[in-house]
Amino acid sequence: MIKYTEVLGQRIRIGNFPTPFQQLSRLGSKYGIPSLWIKRDDLTDVGLGGNKIRKLEFHLCAALDAGADTLLTFGGPQTNHGRLTAAVAARYGLKSILVLDGEAPERLSGNLILDQFLEADLRFVADRHKRTYVEEIIAEYEEAGHKVFVIPMGGSNALGTLGYVLMMVELAEQIKTSGITPTHLFVAAGSGGTLAGIALGAKLVGLDQLQIRGIPVIPAENINLPERTLQFIQQAAELLGRNDIIASEQDFVLDYGPATEPYTGLGYNIPDDKTYSALKTFAITEAIFLDPCYTGKAARAFLDFLAQEATADDTAIFIHTGGTPGLWADVHLEYLNK
Ligand SMILES: Cc1ncc(COP(=O)(O)O)c(C=O)c1O
Repeated sequence: MIKYTEVLGQRIRIGNFPTPFQQLSRLGSKYGIPSLWIKRDDLTDVGLGGNKIRKLEFHLCAALDAGADTLLTFGGPQTNHGRLTAAVAARYGLKSILVLDGEAPERLSGNLILDQFLEADLRFVADRHKRTYVEEIIAEYEEAGHKVFVIPMGGSNALGTLGYVLMMVELAEQIKTSGITPTHLFVAAGSGGTLAGIALGAKLVGLDQLQIRGIPVIPAENINLPERTLQFIQQAAELLGRNDIIASEQDFVLDYGPATEPYTGLGYNIPDDKTYSALKTFAITEAIFLDPCYTGKAARAFLDFLAQEATADDTAIFIHTGGTPGLWADVHLEYLNK
């Protein structure tokens, strides 16, 4: 069995940690809930930052251990995880391949521009069978003498989850220094690894009274988020040698929002007024920019909570997971210019 310290040693320090933990004073005044906080994981450094850096610290280590010189990962065309995988590859002198859903767009925008700067090999799946296509790409690289390391969508598996277990260790220290007792934590949930790491980390650092709310950004019919999150918690606990931990539905809350107007909005990365209104509130009260695909949706849930549910005694934390380059994706530029 792998020991805790051995697993935690299995990462390469890429990001600039700890990320800032700041009070949201003006937002607090607006809602009459004084103790509001934000964890700035948009400022993890490297490639404009974001949550994936914490996961990539573990994936990069595994890739280098395996003797790989090329990182391959997946996602939608505007994947932040793809951009950060390409950034980490560039920083370590590796190649990167991004296997992206759909057709190649007529022109590049948002994250795709940055991917191109980073010389990522962009492969659009279009109507091909994805798995077969990936096998073909890997064979092509291997024939050219490269060794490809495959990182799952969103960097989410047991290893990637450990990145957010460590974030909770970092956050627990900042909570202690700030002299607060947090009651609620809000985070966007896509592929599930970030939420799983936070939920497991909260147990490990003794923050089990904290209610952890994941805000799904992908409609429930398109991904089995509860099952994935539970699986990652369980597998990551086992990696840490904590076989005594049993992942349970009580470890986190998935908040889809009102049935008529769910927080997922009109679908994955489709602009909508309510999400943009949350982005504007964060901008005008705190000068913090969120993104319309992930953090904006979590922010909508956070603001609804403040307006409808929270009491002045609550202490709530918002995790900013990054993603702002997505604001300059064509789909959002078109919407914003209307
Ligand atoms: C900006 C941002 N926030 C949140 C998430 C969700 O993280 P996870 O996929 O670990 O659920 C992502 C994932 O792509 C992201 O890019």
